[in-house]
Amino acid sequence: MENKYLPLIEEYLPTLLPSSECTEKNVVKSMEYSLLAPGKRLRPTLLLAFCDVCGGDVFAALPYACAVEMIHSYSLIHDDLPCMDDDDLRRGRPSNHIVFGEDTALLAGDALQALAYESMLSEKSLSRFGLGGARAAAILSKASGALGMVGGQVIDLETEGKDPSIETITEMYSKKTGQLIKAPCLMGCVLSGADEKKTEAAEIYAEKIGLAFQIVDDILDIVSDTETLGKPVGSDVENEKVNYVTKLGIERSREIVSQLTREALEQLEVFDSDTSFLKELALELSQRVY
Ligand code: IPE
Ligand code: IPE
Ligand code: MG
Ligand code: MG
Ligand code: MG
Repeated sequence: MENKYLPLIEEYLPTLLPSSECTEKNVVKSMEYSLLAPGKRLRPTLLLAFCDVCGGDVFAALPYACAVEMIHSYSLIHDDLPCMDDDDLRRGRPSNHIVFGEDTALLAGDALQALAYESMLSEKSLSRFGLGGARAAAILSKASGALGMVGGQVIDLETEGKDPSIETITEMYSKKTGQLIKAPCLMGCVLSGADEKKTEAAEIYAEKIGLAFQIVDDILDIVSDTETLGKPVGSDVENEKVNYVTKLGIERSREIVSQLTREALEQLEVFDSDTSFLKELALELSQRVY
């Protein structure tokens, strides 16, 4: 399926990085290394796609789309650190801390988070979107904070080697992964002035694909290979992670992914414009191999 948003994201992302002609060039190079590494760009794509479907200005929304990718990129840098998952490969390349050292990797993550807000809260963006721009930034800050992505990472680490309930695992999924998938969908709605009905449908669609996305990620950690995945397989087993796959098995987990995907697609009926891209995207994600 063609993703018409991808070239826009790839072209805009590098323009937001600070120039590396500075005393701090090491940290800037470290930020660039991870931010521009080949990722799926799922989260910025979702923001632009929902903005588009709700009749918004896709080009003006680019700083917000790229900001979500910056937060995601920071979360991956930190997720790979020895104190967390201790993984030395990411997006087919040595992890950030392997190349730049743990100290710089930590700081590059911090700086990417700050850069996300710099991008969203620029004079230009705020004069274009007004309060909507600030609202979009607030959605992202809440989704990535202590009760969002960070909270999910805390649950992930605290349940290592334990036997959490399926409810706790679901909470962990919806926080560590779901929140950064839901945020861009909602931000796309806010930036395009979508009504409550559409925003609610976007939210449910996002919750369903977000859960399905992490279940597939956990399946791939077992059934894929490092070359295809671009990150080490077997990392979850090594870290004694407990997830849907270890609790329910691969077959049942796949059934749940299909069910969640079907439920996500139902939500698209609310939109009056063409939602075929969002439909295909959900289906492709459920069957992805990396
Ligand atoms: C990886 O996300 C982290 C998870 C939440 C599972 P992606 O699978 O979207 O990673 P990239 O951006 O394509 O590298
Ligand atoms: C991803 O969980 C969560 C975040 C990075 C926030 P994982 O630890 O499963 O992600 P991968 O498999 O390393 O990409
Ligand atoms: Mg992790
Ligand atoms: Mg990890
Ligand atoms: Mg994983």
